[in-house]
Amino acid sequence: MAKKITFGILILLAVLIGGFVIYVQLSWNKTYDLPYPDLQVSTDSTVIERGRYLVHGPAHCSNCHVSSIEDMIAADAGKPTPLKGGAAFPLGELGVLYTPNLTPDPKTGIGRYTDGQIFRMMRHAVRPSGIASLSLLMPFWNMADEDLVAVVSYLRSMSPVENEVPPAAWTFMGKAVRTFAPPFRPILHPTPAPTAPPMEATIQRGEYLARYVANCVGCHTQFDPSTFEAIGAEYAGGSEFEPYPEFHLAVGEDPELWMRSPNITPHPNSALSKFKTVEEWKERFRKGRQIKISPMHWGPFSRMSDQDLEALYLYLHSLDPVDHEVGELMFKK
Ligand code: HEC
Ligand code: HEC
Repeated sequence: MAKKITFGILILLAVLIGGFVIYVQLSWNKTYDLPYPDLQVSTDSTVIERGRYLVHGPAHCSNCHVSSIEDMIAADAGKPTPLKGGAAFPLGELGVLYTPNLTPDPKTGIGRYTDGQIFRMMRHAVRPSGIASLSLLMPFWNMADEDLVAVVSYLRSMSPVENEVPPAAWTFMGKAVRTFAPPFRPILHPTPAPTAPPMEATIQRGEYLARYVANCVGCHTQFDPSTFEAIGAEYAGGSEFEPYPEFHLAVGEDPELWMRSPNITPHPNSALSKFKTVEEWKERFRKGRQIKISPMHWGPFSRMSDQDLEALYLYLHSLDPVDHEVGELMFKK
């Protein structure tokens, strides 16, 4: 009798696991039929200049969409580096993504796509092929219409570079997380404004940058490392960043070092409070990267305008202070 029950349970488990595997295999790559945003690119030089500032500055596209670790280091340091894609973007146990080629090459770059396909990617996190991306990787869905138009107009104006990029490689766990975790679902209802707050030292401009352009909020709010969902108080820090061994070795650092983001709310124990004046704050940003393995895009952020840096300072100081000691910023597990 006991044997029969054990056998029955084993069969049930096998059916459940088998069903789960089949479900994941059928669902992880499903495509979404979302509408193309009604936006038009422009060839106007002021629009293109605005896009250039965003791509190489606050929106930091230029730090990811390059071809190798050496290029990432060069781009962060401000050396002209084509956005031809190909750099591996490891997601730990989930698999590895490769940054696509953003130059207008008609075979391997965005020359293959309509404006609508590119705008939809930015607004809904749905790739031109229709499959969902990891929305938190590029949380630009509420970037204002005029800024998004400027960004894509600038991309269209770059010199094309032919560079075939490998497709993403997902592990089974990655496929399962993609199937079930909300950050892998498209953004159905973005709420972008038609225009961005003007580039002036205002709280409103600072909030716009921190949330929708520079993603300060994404890294400085603690997230669950297996699903990337936010689990902590906004801007109170504590997110853990897994080491990227190849990158660490390339800059001469210990490949086992993890990093943690600090608290940037105006609490006396936060990293924000280290800066007594807006001048000190701007000086810190102008210096750029200090910790070689920091995941923060210091290079592009160091090239933000005075007004934008001042706006961020004002905005962060307008937040409620959160008492959150995050501990060592560099650590080993
Ligand atoms: C943190 C790194 C990172 C940043 C910053 C980033 N991207 Fe991406 N981007 C990626 C990765 C990785 C993918 C591939 C996603 C996937 O495989 O689902 C991607 C995909 C894309 C795609 C889809 C292209 C295709 O062929 O499917 C476009 C378009 C794009 N990014 C544009 C941008 C723009 C414009 C910016 C700046 C406003 C930007 N990205 C910032 C990493 C980044
Ligand atoms: C990709 C993740 C990421 C993004 C995006 C990011 N940060 Fe950070 N930030 C970190 C990490 C990790 C550290 C700790 C390592 C370091 O100091 O570089 C840090 C450090 C800091 C510090 C402390 C600097 C110091 O010298 O002590 C400040 C201030 C800061 N970030 C503000 C910001 C602001 C403002 C933004 C948006 C413009 C931002 N961060 C965007 C991850 C990020």
